Amino acid sequence: MPVKLSVSQTAPARARVDLLAVGLHAGRKPGPGSDLLTKGSAALLEASGFTGEVGQTAVVAVEGVAARAVVVVGLGDKGKLDADGMRRVGAAIARQAKRAKTVATTVLDIVPRGLDAGDAAQAFAEGVVLGGYQFLKFKSDPKRSTLASVVVLGGSAKVAAGLAAGATVAGAVCAARDLVNEPAGTQSPAQFAAEAQRVARRSGLKCTVFSGPQLERLRLAGTIAVGQGSSRSPRFVKLEYAPRGARHTLGFVGKGVVFDSGGLSLKPSNGMEQMKTDMSGAAAVVSAMSVLAALDVRTRVVGYIPLVENMPSGTAYRLGDVIRYRNDKTVEVMNTDAEGRLILADALALAAADGVDAMIDLATLTGACMVALGNQIAGLMGNHEGWVGQVRACADRVGEKVWPLPLPKEYRRLLDSEIADMKNIGGPHGGALTAGLFLQEFAGDVPWAHLDIAGPSRAEADNGFVARGGTGVGVRTLIELASGFRKPGRA
Ligand code: BES
Ligand code: MN
Ligand code: ZN
Repeated sequence: MPVKLSVSQTAPARARVDLLAVGLHAGRKPGPGSDLLTKGSAALLEASGFTGEVGQTAVVAVEGVAARAVVVVGLGDKGKLDADGMRRVGAAIARQAKRAKTVATTVLDIVPRGLDAGDAAQAFAEGVVLGGYQFLKFKSDPKRSTLASVVVLGGSAKVAAGLAAGATVAGAVCAARDLVNEPAGTQSPAQFAAEAQRVARRSGLKCTVFSGPQLERLRLAGTIAVGQGSSRSPRFVKLEYAPRGARHTLGFVGKGVVFDSGGLSLKPSNGMEQMKTDMSGAAAVVSAMSVLAALDVRTRVVGYIPLVENMPSGTAYRLGDVIRYRNDKTVEVMNTDAEGRLILADALALAAADGVDAMIDLATLTGACMVALGNQIAGLMGNHEGWVGQVRACADRVGEKVWPLPLPKEYRRLLDSEIADMKNIGGPHGGALTAGLFLQEFAGDVPWAHLDIAGPSRAEADNGFVARGGTGVGVRTLIELASGFRKPGRA
């Protein structure tokens, strides 16, 4: 059951809760609500190494308050807390309160720099919900968090609205994490598509699932080829959010490889279990779209999600095979493990043919992008400076880390094929860029951006509001993009 976030005008000392969360700044300088702390607790905090760094917590006993215990949360240097810090503060409280039921807090008495009270509350709520995330489906004795309610003391109506928005957005991120963490054995292309249909029904989206001969009719040749090696056949999901009066259409494309064994170009066994997360882009698209109505987004959004399992078998696509796409481009398969671009090509070509005003794809596409940018930063590429700038600004605003990579014309020849228009891999170097150049061929003249999320889609360990496993990266950027969409000008 989700945590309830609310506001109350109760005085901090009188809040009858399990935990009262107050703030201290770096160097244990006074923060919101810290006047309640006694001399004794100050000494205790110092002795236990509490410095006041963002997201640090310590539980202290305080006399004369109605709360059963007080948790002190570090807020960092005074005046330096930002939205990301506020998210970490929320997450720290949620993690500390896993055994509690009710929490009240004064931390929103301070508003981080550059934010208004509503934005600060939204960031805090996102942190609480994301920091409390657990994937317990397969635990027979789950240690489920008991936290049921977080009350912001002194919060205004604006704060209450911010908390609600934050809970909605973070709920979508958690939904994406659930999809990513689900093992491939129970998430075939058909099962993922059925889940997308359930989500669509609940959230007022139109959902169409294509399979078998419908894929042939739409000429989704990449999806058919990559999917043909698996006994679990491919699907293509189209989701539509169509608010009344919308003037523009945005296309969201998500890579949906439910399991990437590499196919005949088989991956090594070590780490292959992580390839159940190769549908993180698809998960982000479905989950982001599920809250567009709740957030009253005014732009029409169409989601394009190719779903396959990449397997080696007697029916698998082969090296040397040629795929003929719906835009009549042909591709020679030189490595069956470069499958993501082959299915994304279908989706981009279809979105371009539908005439979307701009599009973005999210894909766990290349190990090379992880070599370049590491585990926490997505690579951002595209064919339109203004549109890429818009994507970058949205990602920056929500605190999802992206960094621009080039699509050098000079590298296009690395994709030249002897017998087809191109091959599906480039040379040994610059793999994130040649993958991007491949995709660009299918975007036509539609403003297009590409986020390679191979690194940040998965976390090795808990860190702030990120939990080990699927991160749900991209959901918040997609929501932000749809919320403030401006049609890009002519390139
Ligand atoms: N799904 C992988 C990329 C990936 C690797 C995602 C590690 C997350 C973590 C993708 O399909 C792939 O196999 N890419 C190959 C491309 C190569 C064959 C050109 C890669 O990056 O090695
Ligand atoms: Mn692969
Ligand atoms: Zn893959």
